[in-house]
Amino acid sequence: MESPFRADVLKGKVALVTGGGSGIGFEISAQLGRHGAAVAVMGRRRPVLVAAVSALRDQGIRAIGLEGDVRKQEDARRVLEATVEHFGKLDILVNGAAGNFLASPEDLSPNGFRTVIEIDSVGTYTMCHEALKYLKKGGPGKGPSMGGLIINISATLHYTASWYQLHVSAAKAAVDSITRSLALEWGTDYDIRVNGIAPGPIEGTPGMRKLAPEEMKVRTQEYMPLFKLGQKWDIAMAALYLASDAGKFVNGHTVVVDGGLWLSRPRH
Ligand code: HXC
Repeated sequence: MESPFRADVLKGKVALVTGGGSGIGFEISAQLGRHGAAVAVMGRRRPVLVAAVSALRDQGIRAIGLEGDVRKQEDARRVLEATVEHFGKLDILVNGAAGNFLASPEDLSPNGFRTVIEIDSVGTYTMCHEALKYLKKGGPGKGPSMGGLIINISATLHYTASWYQLHVSAAKAAVDSITRSLALEWGTDYDIRVNGIAPGPIEGTPGMRKLAPEEMKVRTQEYMPLFKLGQKWDIAMAALYLASDAGKFVNGHTVVVDGGLWLSRPRH
């Protein structure tokens, strides 16, 4: 689908996308790249990274892949260092890495709970913490927004409550809280904007394959306001809005991109 944004809207910017090798993270990497940014992709699985980087480069995007686990502070530090060493700076950090599986609280061990909290919440915070020194001075240096930008990929599960998603709901609630706190403190001190995006059900993603078996998908569509699943493209366009100067006054907000699903109920 054609982008409504100018192709040079992120020209000269450098982005690091965790979980950027597949799913929504990959589409964000590709769209940031197609709009002018150089992109470093961080992930745990080397073959996924290799394929992602080659697909990005085929589109003429300056891209590198960096192996690492957001749960490990030393990986976060090394990947950020390597990004800045390669591209010279960092303007945009997208925290897309997430863990997920369906489990009822009866079956969810404390370690399963901890694992998802460690990937989603602690991992997001660790990346932000380690990125700060680069984002402080990583901004474009001219134009309306001087500091860098963080985008945390969240969810809408915790706005109400979601079956078999206690762990992810808790983890994403923490992510949203981190978004607001950092927006306040780093916005004030360093002109860094920190925002989130909360995708609804997006077709063709690992999350959707894992979480929504076919019949659940059909049932949900019956009462979705826009009556369809979202596309990865929709999430990437929200990221572009936040990353471009169009979003320069948006800070501490998590943009829900779900067609209105989270607030809807079946008609009867
Ligand atoms: C119950 C499970 C489980 C499952 C893991 N655990 N899978 N419990 N049901 N299906 C438990 C394990 O039993 C263990 O606890 C603990 O979690 C750690 O498991 P490991 O396999 O050792 O951990 P690890 O290899 O680090 O893998 C963690 C992982 C991760 C969370 C499974 O690999 C993962 O999810 N990767 C997929 C990434 C993904 O799908 N990303 C898209 C996310 S979509 P015990 O007690 O046994 O030691 C998304 C969207 C959310 O986030 C919103 C949707 C609307």
